[in-house]
Amino acid sequence: MQLCECGGRNSERKRKRNMMMLCLVFLVIFIAFFIKFLTADGDFTLLSKGKVKREEIEDKVVWVTGASRGIGEILAKQLASLGAKLIISARNEAELQHVKQQLTGKYAPRDVMVLPLDLTSGEKSLRVAVEKAESFFGAAGVDYMIHNAAYERPKSTALDVTEETLKATLNVNVVGPISVTRMLVPYMLKRGRGHLVVMSSAAGKTPAPGQAVYSASKFAVNGYFHTLRSELCHKGIKVTVVCPGPVETTNTRTGSTERRVSSERCAELTIVAATHGIKEAWISYQPVLAVMYLVQYMPSVGYWLMEKIGGKRVEAAAEKGNTYSVNLLFDKKEG
Ligand SMILES: NC(=O)c1ccc[n+]([C@@H]2O[C@H](COP(=O)([O-])OP(=O)(O)OC[C@H]3O[C@@H](n4cnc5c(N)ncnc54)[C@H](OP(=O)(O)O)[C@@H]3O)[C@@H](O)[C@H]2O)c1
Repeated sequence: MQLCECGGRNSERKRKRNMMMLCLVFLVIFIAFFIKFLTADGDFTLLSKGKVKREEIEDKVVWVTGASRGIGEILAKQLASLGAKLIISARNEAELQHVKQQLTGKYAPRDVMVLPLDLTSGEKSLRVAVEKAESFFGAAGVDYMIHNAAYERPKSTALDVTEETLKATLNVNVVGPISVTRMLVPYMLKRGRGHLVVMSSAAGKTPAPGQAVYSASKFAVNGYFHTLRSELCHKGIKVTVVCPGPVETTNTRTGSTERRVSSERCAELTIVAATHGIKEAWISYQPVLAVMYLVQYMPSVGYWLMEKIGGKRVEAAAEKGNTYSVNLLFDKKEG
């Protein structure tokens, strides 16, 4: 009888010990996961992919818009070094020529095609650009279209946006890329393959106080390109929508305290996303990344947070302060 009681106590102790071990393992995993999340510069699916797949880019024809500066210029540099056959576009031809001379790679700088393009120039002129792009490189056709060019005005409230800003933003960010896509994709469909990479924004996933029209333009491209994929993915058309938060470019290096992902890292992660066929990728440090997760998976909490931040972010932008600071949640103003 005593032996039986003793055995029972031992197995109870063993069970408790096992439970404690299990809790400890879960705690360690949770802490590791939390630290990874705090220090992440992209969403978990994207970061889990690791490196760029060079074989998906080498010898492919890649057309990049907005390649004269900023993220587009860095994208062009990285794509050239991966052995892509590049077509680079923007309005300013002299700047494009300057970028071309900086490129190095299997086909760069000699065979890089400079294709000046104004996304607001209308259907006829965009059709000519698409036909030219298709005819370069022995009429190989465009394998990757990277819609990177965009227009953004300084931050203002949703009501202060002028008619001119509204139209200019929507024309460059939405109408132009959609028109080019409508003209280019039929060629891709004939070949049975083609990949559209769209540089959207975190502002296309969450409210972006002070950037209402820019945010509207990015929500619009997200809607168009995700829908296009749903219609054409069975015919060989791939779409990767990239949503970066704040990125450091030559335009943004102003000594602000905002923490931004470098253009180099943003371009690298964009190419990782495209070469791994990811449908949507988020690139950002905290707290923007956390807000994106909240708005996606717990929208009531996410929208509540954005309501707390809203007016203060517009004020912070006017004072050239940190528009991505957690302190915007509290009454304290950021310097
Ligand atoms: N920087 C960020 O923090 C950030 C964050 C999230 C998302 N993004 C997105 O990433 C992309 C690149 O941003 P960025 O900061 O590198 O931009 P950027 O430095 O302002 O460069 C914009 C590019 O677009 C071109 N462009 C402007 N208007 C055009 C038009 N009408 N037709 C054709 N090209 C035109 C510009 O060249 P021309 O003036 O010579 O035409 C330039 O090459 C954009 O889609 C942006 O929305 C940026």
